[in-house]
Amino acid sequence: MFEALPEQGVPGEQVLGELRELRRADLPTHGGRLFAYVYDPALDGLDELAQAAYAISAHVNGLDPTAFPSLLAMENALVGAAAGLLGGDEETVGSVTSGGTESLILVVKAARDSRPELATPRLVIPSTAHAAFAKAAHYLRVALDVVPVGPDLRADPEAMAAAITVDTVLVAASAPSYAHGVVDPIPRLAAIAAERGVRFHVDACFGGWVLPYLQRLGAGLPPFDLSVPGVTSISVDLHKYAYAPKGVSILLHRTEELRLPQYFAFAGWPGYTMINPIVSSTRSGGPIAAAVATLRHIGDAGYLDLARHTREAVSALAAAVTETDGVRLFAPPETSVVCLATDPAVDIFVLADELAARGWHTQPQMSFGDLPATIHLTVTAAVAPTAKEFAADLAAAVTTTRDRGPAQLPGPMLEAAASLTPEMITPQLVAGLADGLGLGGGDFTRMAAVNSLLDAVPPALREALLTGFLSLLQRPGRSTE
Ligand SMILES: Cc1ncc(COP(=O)(O)O)c(C=O)c1O
Repeated sequence: MFEALPEQGVPGEQVLGELRELRRADLPTHGGRLFAYVYDPALDGLDELAQAAYAISAHVNGLDPTAFPSLLAMENALVGAAAGLLGGDEETVGSVTSGGTESLILVVKAARDSRPELATPRLVIPSTAHAAFAKAAHYLRVALDVVPVGPDLRADPEAMAAAITVDTVLVAASAPSYAHGVVDPIPRLAAIAAERGVRFHVDACFGGWVLPYLQRLGAGLPPFDLSVPGVTSISVDLHKYAYAPKGVSILLHRTEELRLPQYFAFAGWPGYTMINPIVSSTRSGGPIAAAVATLRHIGDAGYLDLARHTREAVSALAAAVTETDGVRLFAPPETSVVCLATDPAVDIFVLADELAARGWHTQPQMSFGDLPATIHLTVTAAVAPTAKEFAADLAAAVTTTRDRGPAQLPGPMLEAAASLTPEMITPQLVAGLADGLGLGGGDFTRMAAVNSLLDAVPPALREALLTGFLSLLQRPGRSTE
């Protein structure tokens, strides 16, 4: 058990050694073999630079930019850079937030509070929109209208138009979607929203920093940013394809007027008047300074090079999928994602385990409606040098997967799961299930059985089971050592 508050303080070097030791259990954040969670440009010295910049501003408080003008200057510079990249003009304003989820919560809040007269404000999204919209709708009590995507996995403009009502405060779509990496038809959607007088947000959190460069390299993607009439806001995460350390996203609004309802102000207490543009109040300047250092060090030409490497890597990985019997591309690899599906003889969750056993850490995605389970690969520039090794490992993994057959779940466990409802999930039941599935010891390397079970149950039960499991892990007395 790792102790955060020892009776006597521990020397700094020892603490750092302990932290490094803890990190050894994590997936590798460098090396081009982790296809989710992290974004790696594989640039020598960038980590050290970002860390040094982080340290300079770590204790600065974003709560009051008049007290810390350095942060205001950095935030305005980041917003300006994003506006320049994403079709903004002199009217464009924005905010620096802690991540994509926060940017989306804020754009929903701004839209909701721009229409205070509505009893039930509504948000229209395609079914492939990021889960953070559901979270925003839930937190803010905005009704969510989810519109099925077309067979091309893109938002269906006619269906989206039909979902807009007089209560709709915001329509949103993705550029690109996380699960499949495809770009929604933004110009048509934006025109529809504009015609109905509704705000339209482009969620470019994931790909917003790489898409403009892919365009410059000739990717031939449709326009998706503030240059498109009717787009009222767009979000882009710097901790994704801008390769900044975690904790920075940008939310841009076409005009200051559109941004105003995003602010929260409160003077009705004896302390300082609190004026917050974003969810948190006190916040560290560290991530912001690290992002500024990252952008300035890489520069526009550097990002173009990184996009070129990413594009090469996507091509190599997609070719490997196309050339391997038993797997196929599930979505066109038009941006920075490779999404693959398997033939029935190849269990997708066993394949994910087999790839992991060969050092390739992918992200299994559960089946959804008519869509089968898939494997998602977020591809970053660091993958370019390793991508050519993927084909042989994929072929070997598919062969082994075929030989092993589907993940085996104890029959009684499947039966028990089929009779469960979310209300029946208790901490004891989850602990028993976790033990039965071999997760009690904290070994998450072979997940096929668990994933198959989760895939077989309805989404609401999956949510309850995983909530219970996370809660089981998040107990102070627990250790995975
Ligand atoms: C399209 C999209 N939007 C929003 C988010 C949420 O971002 P975050 O995890 O930074 O909160 C993600 C994360 O992957 C994303 O891909």
